[in-house]
Amino acid sequence: MSVLALDAGTTGVTALIVSADAQIVARGYSEFPQHFPTEGWVEHEPREIWEAALVAVRAALDALGPDGDQPTAVGITNQRETAVLWDRETLGSPRRAIVWQDRRTAGLCDQLREDGHEPRVAALTGLRLDSYFTATKLAWIALNEPHVWASVTSGRTAVGTVDSYLVARMTRGLHHVTDASNASRTLLYDIHAGAWSQELCDIFHVPIDALPEVVPSYGVIGRTDPSTFLGLDLPIAGIAGDQQAALFGQACYEVGTSKCTYGTGSFVLVNTGERPVASSTGLLTTVAWQHPDGRLEYALEGSVFVTGAAIQWLRDGLEIIASASETEALAQSVPDSGGVVFVPALTGLGAPDWDPHARGTILGISRGTTRAHIVRATLEAIAWEVRDVVDLMVREGGLELAVLSVDGGASANGFLCQLQADALQAPVARAAQLETTGLGAAFLAGLATGVWASQEEIARTVKHDAQFEPGPRDDRAHRRWRVAVERSKSWAVL
Ligand code: G3P
Repeated sequence: MSVLALDAGTTGVTALIVSADAQIVARGYSEFPQHFPTEGWVEHEPREIWEAALVAVRAALDALGPDGDQPTAVGITNQRETAVLWDRETLGSPRRAIVWQDRRTAGLCDQLREDGHEPRVAALTGLRLDSYFTATKLAWIALNEPHVWASVTSGRTAVGTVDSYLVARMTRGLHHVTDASNASRTLLYDIHAGAWSQELCDIFHVPIDALPEVVPSYGVIGRTDPSTFLGLDLPIAGIAGDQQAALFGQACYEVGTSKCTYGTGSFVLVNTGERPVASSTGLLTTVAWQHPDGRLEYALEGSVFVTGAAIQWLRDGLEIIASASETEALAQSVPDSGGVVFVPALTGLGAPDWDPHARGTILGISRGTTRAHIVRATLEAIAWEVRDVVDLMVREGGLELAVLSVDGGASANGFLCQLQADALQAPVARAAQLETTGLGAAFLAGLATGVWASQEEIARTVKHDAQFEPGPRDDRAHRRWRVAVERSKSWAVL
């Protein structure tokens, strides 16, 4: 027995085949284009996500080979919050998806805040009025593209997040579902009642009937259609937002256990069990997962928007590196950042500063500055960003940070892990399998279909392969970092 996991991230889709002993035995990956129509906007073509998913699954199956242990179930995990529209009949999309990083709704959020909606929205959803979240993007379409929205209100066009869209594609439109962890990121889902909220739908002009059915994070919801999904007829048995899936994949099942995943952004989540813990300082209260019996478990989240994306920008925008893997040696080729501080607020700031109008800022450049200093400042920025949200969690979430468990692509960079331990003044333990997001989706689907009997059994398979102990803390560097963050704020509206 093995499980196929589809991890549809922000820049590409990964397919993993995970064996019953929790090893990744085959993988495939396909990147898809990012569209930046104007400053601050980020869009994806849904069809390109679907095509990337097919390429990734094909590659994983080829790597497994005909004699490999074929998958018996599929789990899905995905970039969260991104708003996707598709025609229920043709599955084509009337417009591109508006991505979680897109900041076009910052003004709309300011207006809703002025109108006094924030306290109620926060109380129901555990989130804040920020352009990060799906409903603001749907409201933008409703207000700015009435011709598109007319097909939503008429019932022809379905609305959802990337998980819902993939399920629709994989089942040829038979199922329109999302799981509670994804629903909890939309600003339309009441995390206490465990249901879509009519009151929130009214605020954001969203017809409640256009939304997917909310299902538990594991349990069979339907089967893939072989005619559209590479000949595969598999139960779809697990769905979770990528950060919640990583929490599951790191076996953070006990209250107080936490993880940090370095992807496009970095997201620190701490499990708070069946109790949603409210935050007043910029953390988000979110559904971790829903059990098949309906029980919800929650997490407190610190969301940092741009970490891996900053490295991607060094490669594709600034073109000062050829690949992300170069950053470790380059950063270590200089003793420090030479006074350079980079605030990678390329798509605004998430926790703890929450400023959609902030933009990337590089301070301290001198005649002696080289690309190595900029690269080092980028890695330092990632470490400081994560430290700032972890500090909040310790202060507000009651997190006792004995050690931070990390995973995700950039955690392969040992120098970054060391910077992180120094910044936190706490050890950093790196997961033995860095792709815990996909692993988490596989665990959810495998738990639902008998590949694993219990969460305890899964937890026994999760290992860490390296621990980074903290060195001396550089308080001056952190003070400078905070000054630079302040200077990056409000830039887009000055
Ligand atoms: O909330 C956004 C998050 O889900 C994106 O994840 O893995 O693409 O950084 P990732």
